[in-house]
Amino acid sequence: MDSLTQPDPYIKHVTTLGDIQQIVSTEDILNDEGVNLVKQGTRIDSSLYERLVRHKLLRPLDNSLNVENAVTPLSLLTDAKRLLASEPELERAIDDSFIQRDILTPLGTIHLEPQMAFKLTVCREQSIDRYNHMIRIALVALYIAAHLRWSSVERHDLATAGIFHDLGEMHLEPTLFDRSKPLTLAQRRQIYSHPTIAYLFLREFPTYHPRISFAVHQHHERLDGSGYPKGLAGDDVVPVARLLGAAELLTVIRLEQKNSGNRLFSTAEVLKLNTERFGCETILPLIEAAKRIDKAASTTPQNSVTNKTTLQARMRLLVEILQGAKGIDVDGDEEMAAFISNHLERVEGMANRCGVDLNAPAELLAIIGDDDQAVSELNALVQEMIFLVQSTAREALRRWVKDEIPEQDQEPLTKWLRNAELALHSAGFQSEGVTETL
Ligand SMILES: [Fe+2]
Ligand SMILES: [Fe+2]
Repeated sequence: MDSLTQPDPYIKHVTTLGDIQQIVSTEDILNDEGVNLVKQGTRIDSSLYERLVRHKLLRPLDNSLNVENAVTPLSLLTDAKRLLASEPELERAIDDSFIQRDILTPLGTIHLEPQMAFKLTVCREQSIDRYNHMIRIALVALYIAAHLRWSSVERHDLATAGIFHDLGEMHLEPTLFDRSKPLTLAQRRQIYSHPTIAYLFLREFPTYHPRISFAVHQHHERLDGSGYPKGLAGDDVVPVARLLGAAELLTVIRLEQKNSGNRLFSTAEVLKLNTERFGCETILPLIEAAKRIDKAASTTPQNSVTNKTTLQARMRLLVEILQGAKGIDVDGDEEMAAFISNHLERVEGMANRCGVDLNAPAELLAIIGDDDQAVSELNALVQEMIFLVQSTAREALRRWVKDEIPEQDQEPLTKWLRNAELALHSAGFQSEGVTETL
């Protein structure tokens, strides 16, 4: 990150933490011209912020600092146990028989280079939700790995990649993660950079095998090519990254369910619809976990009237967006147009395979009647189709559309992409945003 043109928000995190927890420089901190900014042995706090942020530093800040009460493999293990104990749902997702040997043990044996321990400590103290998220993802991914009978070396890599996977976000402006308003393309691009930021600092350490840094780089890639930052597909997405992505999906689905206020769809159903993006082998153990979660949640009273009203509105929105794409002449945008029509065909294929006619939502819901199970299944399908449209629009914008072209100069297809994204955002669909920020 170029600290001259754009201050690194990480410096703010570090100096703010220094006000409440002792951070000391272990060497002189120099700028890129060799000027000594902070002498070795200096206590770091917010009074040094201006001095540090105005210069491009010679070495990453993590190399030059020591923090009291830093994260250790043992404290990670303790935090993982605490998280499991405080989140009954997470505990339910993970089979008891796996917990100690297969899931917690790899976490307790992670190798922490001092610089990574420092960064992780800053994350724990300044961004506890992100720290807990990374532990949660590591736990769920290790649960899948236990089902797949991965070797202890593979599980060790997975635990390490899981614990570091979103650390790149510590270098991004915290306001990017405020989900109340839609992000501009430029802001979205910043979020898309977080796997690369983490990859670049991890690859500096020979002790972290490239399997780990590659997996961190790829944790938002998807098998169907719909992910970022490179749009990799199939076997190019390494197994550790697949498991991290699938673990993330489970947490996103649960969050959406909580945010929607009532139980509109089952976790297991949404997972099934995502088999193509994450791979059958990866998704199957998660479906088992999801069934346990769904079973426990099914005691929650449901309101099928509200569910059906919401569902009908969602179907209308989806049909409107899909029809909007059909009327567009795509001359001049061949590559982008091919990408979009390819993905939209998959969306329509999902409806056809399930025998659902989206064009007549009221009739369809009348046939379903008050069958809660059928409403839930249909909702899962519609939700997933919307999610695919949304991620297609975002990927196309990311790959082919230049930042902030004035509306009057946008191609019709670009306009459609922007409108689809905004319509879905205002209808409350922020699922990919949630994934990005987790
Ligand atoms: Fe991420
Ligand atoms: Fe994440």
